[in-house]
Amino acid sequence: MIQFILNNQVIHKQNPGNITLLDFIRYDENLRGTKIGCREGDCGACTILIGSLKDGKLEYFSATSCLTPLPNVHGKHVVTIEGLNLPDKLNQAQQALVDLSGTQCGFCTPGFINSMSGYALTCESPNIEGAISAIDGNICRCTGYKSIERAVAKLAEKLQNKNSENPLRWLVENEFIPEYFLHIEDQLNDFNLKYNTEGNIPIGGGTDLYVQKHDELHDMDLNYLFDKNSLNRITFEGDFCSIKSAVTISDLIVNKTLLEKIPNWYNYLKLVSSTPIRNIATIAGNLANGSPIGDFTIILLALKAKITLTNKENESREIPLKDFYLGYKVLNKTEDEIISEITFEIPDTSSKFNFEKVCKRQYLDIASVNTALTISTKENTILEVHISIGGVGPIPKYLSKTNDFLVNKSIDTDTIKQAEQILQNELAPIGDARGTEEYKRLLARQLFFAHFIALFPETIKMDDLI
Ligand code: FES
Ligand code: FES
Repeated sequence: MIQFILNNQVIHKQNPGNITLLDFIRYDENLRGTKIGCREGDCGACTILIGSLKDGKLEYFSATSCLTPLPNVHGKHVVTIEGLNLPDKLNQAQQALVDLSGTQCGFCTPGFINSMSGYALTCESPNIEGAISAIDGNICRCTGYKSIERAVAKLAEKLQNKNSENPLRWLVENEFIPEYFLHIEDQLNDFNLKYNTEGNIPIGGGTDLYVQKHDELHDMDLNYLFDKNSLNRITFEGDFCSIKSAVTISDLIVNKTLLEKIPNWYNYLKLVSSTPIRNIATIAGNLANGSPIGDFTIILLALKAKITLTNKENESREIPLKDFYLGYKVLNKTEDEIISEITFEIPDTSSKFNFEKVCKRQYLDIASVNTALTISTKENTILEVHISIGGVGPIPKYLSKTNDFLVNKSIDTDTIKQAEQILQNELAPIGDARGTEEYKRLLARQLFFAHFIALFPETIKMDDLI
């Protein structure tokens, strides 16, 4: 049995099955304010908030309910648009959208209000940029984004005086959220029901599996990994970072050590999907999906990541991530192995890292081509380099030949141009919805150059390369 709080009501569900949170909210509970748009995490119409205890403290995050397995909210607080209503007036997010003409047909509006309320609940230093980032997973097809952005900016302005001592009470008193939120943390801390699943097929955040196998999943024997404590850790030892398999992309985006040690870490990770997806998508799931264009796969390939695979007998083996991909969606792993840990070396002060991605829109989109590079140099000579690229072949590609060519070369325009020729021979792009073969080769070239222009602006100039 699972137990959680839906808005202001405790829910017990004897056999949760493998349904999504969205289906439970709409069809079991008849709360129709949460909308169904795409069922693929792309539109944000189904966005809800989830409050989860961390060391006894309640923390909220937004999530796409269409991709959230219902058992993943065991022991948590789920907030739908109905649970954000105040008894006799509009809350601040609703009022801002009304005042700034941020809604027309209203289909997307519950999702926007949940994302805006999620920002109100989580922001520590409210600002317009952060508030607008919080709606990066919501799409509107009739109002136009400028009026929605103005409403979000107004919300950020109203949050300026948010009290950091007792933020929840301040939000209640200032009409951002209803009063019952004040009692949720105590209620959840009183829950003591364990939910153990030991099925055969592992599932983490569900963000890939529910897109690809929504119907098949209903009848599968799933093993829910998302809330297993042993799989939820990020640790550091020396220069190495280890990530357990249920760590999410949002866990990494706010990690203080990584933010401090890898310049632009936040900006790179902001390019991965959208806020509500990053909040629930696990890194291991991104790797195991085997997509030739997974953003995190490309980042970790360039960081020389290794993965640990563990089977049902608890036997483990470690392999370089670059040896994990054997062909299109063919992985170097047995059926009963899961990715239990991912380890990579944090670039030291003599190294630089860069990530580039081109897609049809800036956020919430799959790349046409993405690429990452880690490089260490001494007096303009390349000591070590690791470049990866996605979207140009059947697997996420580690560019072994290009990397080998670059070692011991000096960083200059001729070297980069010669290396680009080798890179082109390592690619095998095909034309698809994200571009023709020629376009992808062109993008690969431009993004490869972009690495060096971004990291060595004194030496490498765009005009000399192109
Ligand atoms: Fe579109 Fe969930 S229905 S993101
Ligand atoms: Fe109609 Fe946004 S108001 S889709």
